[in-house]
Amino acid sequence: MSQDPLHTKLCDQLGIDFPIVAFTHCKDVAVAVINSGGFAVLGEAMHTPDEIAADIKWIRDRIDGKPFGVDLVLPASAPPETTLEEIQSKIPQTHLDYKQSIMDKYDVPMPKQDVGLHQWGGLSLSHGRAQLEVLLEERVPVIASGLGSPAFLLDAAHERGCLVWGLVGRTRQAKRQLEAGVDAVIAQGFDAAGHTGDMGTLSIVAEVSAIAGDTPIIAAGGITTGRHLAAALCLGASGVWTGTLWLASRESDVDMIIKERLIESEAADTVYSDSVSGFTMRVLKCPWTDEWKKPEAPRPLASPYQMILSADYTQGANDARRPDLMYEASGQGVGFVTEMKPARQIVSDMVEEALTVFDDIVGLPD
Ligand SMILES: Cc1cc2nc3c(=O)[nH]c(=O)nc-3n(C[C@H](O)[C@H](O)[C@H](O)COP(=O)(O)O)c2cc1C
Repeated sequence: MSQDPLHTKLCDQLGIDFPIVAFTHCKDVAVAVINSGGFAVLGEAMHTPDEIAADIKWIRDRIDGKPFGVDLVLPASAPPETTLEEIQSKIPQTHLDYKQSIMDKYDVPMPKQDVGLHQWGGLSLSHGRAQLEVLLEERVPVIASGLGSPAFLLDAAHERGCLVWGLVGRTRQAKRQLEAGVDAVIAQGFDAAGHTGDMGTLSIVAEVSAIAGDTPIIAAGGITTGRHLAAALCLGASGVWTGTLWLASRESDVDMIIKERLIESEAADTVYSDSVSGFTMRVLKCPWTDEWKKPEAPRPLASPYQMILSADYTQGANDARRPDLMYEASGQGVGFVTEMKPARQIVSDMVEEALTVFDDIVGLPD
């Protein structure tokens, strides 16, 4: 056994101490994880190109030349070019009526402000491409694509010295991305928060690792402890990609009501549903997801239509600050998120626990 089981080829690829990747929308979390020896990828799919450029600068100013990543969503199924208004005009009346019946039943107020979806990268191909231009221009060290294959941007990214990571939910997607030459594949299982496929984390990480050759595989989905990290490495991954783990951290800007719900929740409090965005997604259970499961509910629309349909509920629930209505993406590892810890402590606890697990199983050299 090597001296340090946590020193993997992902650590070598990035020059980081620990093979722990945080996916986060919060810049403070990203900076704290990077400065604690891990790696962070900032989710920027909801932001304008100017906001993305400003966020990149903000992070660069605080990490002393260390690498970081930015994640976009680039679904090939998105319409080529469209506006929010055009999408809204295509939502069937049956679905608008069903949405309204949920809003009325639970007394959800209409949002006080614009829901802010005009820039979502999944809205159209042109939105995603405009965001991507900024990442290339800024030579972001790692460009990750959470939805959709990033194979089309490999040449442009590599010419600028950027690495490209693709997130997959199926082994055949991984195979295509590996053949195209991505620099790492995130194999994300059913346990994950947010958009996710139907393969279990254990199965997809093992299958993708088996075909990856020298390309690092990063395990995702339900990973919230050092024991999970150790298990992922045993399955052949070179690191872990984690989302839920950071939501209730001290630095996180997630609403305190949601932090409290996450701390109280277990795996069974999450649900796999296509009612939020039109893609299958894991979130905390809430009236919106419950109502779309009922036999009388219409079939949820495809993305981006369902995402636009659910937006009034989501924002209205947040505006009302009602814990019984609010939800957030959450993975099945949420049961181990039991307190609001600083990100640095989350990193060190995960490292320590993983090392203890390896030591218990095989014994580590002194
Ligand atoms: C609140 C939240 C929002 C997310 N949004 C995105 C996103 O915009 N793009 C993306 O690629 N992944 C997104 N994800 C998924 C993460 O990238 C990651 O794959 C997932 O959280 C891993 O599962 P875990 O939460 O069980 O660790 C999101 C996750 C969370 C928790």
